[in-house]
Amino acid sequence: MAGEAEQDRCDALVFFGATGDLAYKQIFPALQSMIRHGNLDVPIIGVAKAGWTLDDLKSRAHDSLSEHGGVDEEAYARLVAQLRYIDGDYGDAATFAALRRELGDARHPLHYLAIPPVLFGTVVEALGSSGSADGARVVVEKPFGRDLASAQELNRTLGTVFPERRIFRIDHYLGKEAVENLLYFRFANAFLEPIWDRDHVRDVQITMAESFGVAGRGAFYEQAGAIRDVVQNHMLQVLALLTMDAPSPHALDGVRNERARLMSSIRPLTPDDVVRGQFHGYHDEPGVAPDSTVETFAAVRVSIDNWRWDGVPFIIRVGKQLPVTSCEIQVTLDHPPTQIFDAEEDTRRNALRFTLSPHVELALQARAKVPGEGMVGEQVELVAQYLEPNALPPYERLLGDAMRGDATLFAREDTVEDAWRVVGAILDDVTPVHRYEPGTWGPSEADRLLPPDDCWHEPRGSTR
Ligand code: BG6
Repeated sequence: MAGEAEQDRCDALVFFGATGDLAYKQIFPALQSMIRHGNLDVPIIGVAKAGWTLDDLKSRAHDSLSEHGGVDEEAYARLVAQLRYIDGDYGDAATFAALRRELGDARHPLHYLAIPPVLFGTVVEALGSSGSADGARVVVEKPFGRDLASAQELNRTLGTVFPERRIFRIDHYLGKEAVENLLYFRFANAFLEPIWDRDHVRDVQITMAESFGVAGRGAFYEQAGAIRDVVQNHMLQVLALLTMDAPSPHALDGVRNERARLMSSIRPLTPDDVVRGQFHGYHDEPGVAPDSTVETFAAVRVSIDNWRWDGVPFIIRVGKQLPVTSCEIQVTLDHPPTQIFDAEEDTRRNALRFTLSPHVELALQARAKVPGEGMVGEQVELVAQYLEPNALPPYERLLGDAMRGDATLFAREDTVEDAWRVVGAILDDVTPVHRYEPGTWGPSEADRLLPPDDCWHEPRGSTR
């Protein structure tokens, strides 16, 4: 896929926050894997303020790999041979002078800011003034703001030094095999497009269920809640891929243009469109306030104001401590116009199911006749595809794309800001939070968001 026309390969990879959690869980495994696949043969420079030496960082990398995916001795040996380390304060010009020296002849470094957003300004400005931003790209992580104003402020900060085409905002959902496959399946086949509209689609449910709680991230979660954590970003990006128009193969940044156009057509949500929930026991999590009203569950009813989707309800449901872990999209098609067979029989279930996790499946649900006397049917599923999930893990794919300059799977400024516009009026405590028992599908109050005659689609998923 062609992203922006900025295809020079990066010749150094710098990651800030080298001693932190994200580096430990995601970045080292991705780096080792990129090296194993022959996709990373440039200097890798870790930067942090921890009083560490290069040897400390190497052993941290080893620990990280042992815990996350395993050490490949050959690739690890190359990783540590390419690894450099700068220990220094982000507020100190000497840190960036050392970085500039370490970059040597590199003309297109990639700077990965695996650090809290409050530090972006300091680091970006110092990258600029030290000359380390020239010809460089920058990769940033979510959370990308906590509302529209703070996202705009972050965008302004990054924009003072990097042009938009060199800013790569990671939404790791976009790097998932299954999410990319959604785009591929829609536009590599011709049969879906004629029915992909308000005349054939009755409603759509997108469920992101997790059977675990906040997993020790209570303090982070208190600042986020389900809407900021996964609806504003992952879910709205998935919705955009599911519903956008086909990009032109000639358009520069075509996929992102279409995602942006779709995102700008989503009607801003109102309190009536949302039901928030919180699982019993959330208050006992470390880092959580005893009277917290932060939501661990949210169901929202989304409308898309364009000619293709006008009037079609899109229900997004996300939550922690639900019965299974799974992300699934169910697109229910219109019912047959007349009832020819047994009127008692429910012949209405024509649907497409896209399971994004824990495994990848595309399925067409239909009625088929049970062999034997009588016109009695049963619900069958024609499973179109089954893939190993994340054959290429999201961080490896996304870092590889950023190194090549392909921004297709990254979130663009306009899309991120529009997504904040969509959720802006439902953030925080504008609606009540309803308690639900762990292991259930959330508060029953959410039922009011369903279209008449519809019921919840419950993914099977895994119980892990
Ligand atoms: C993260 C959220 O962005 O996505 C987590 O902060 C969530 O709360 C996670 O669990 C889900 O992503 P994945 O890839 O683990 O399904």
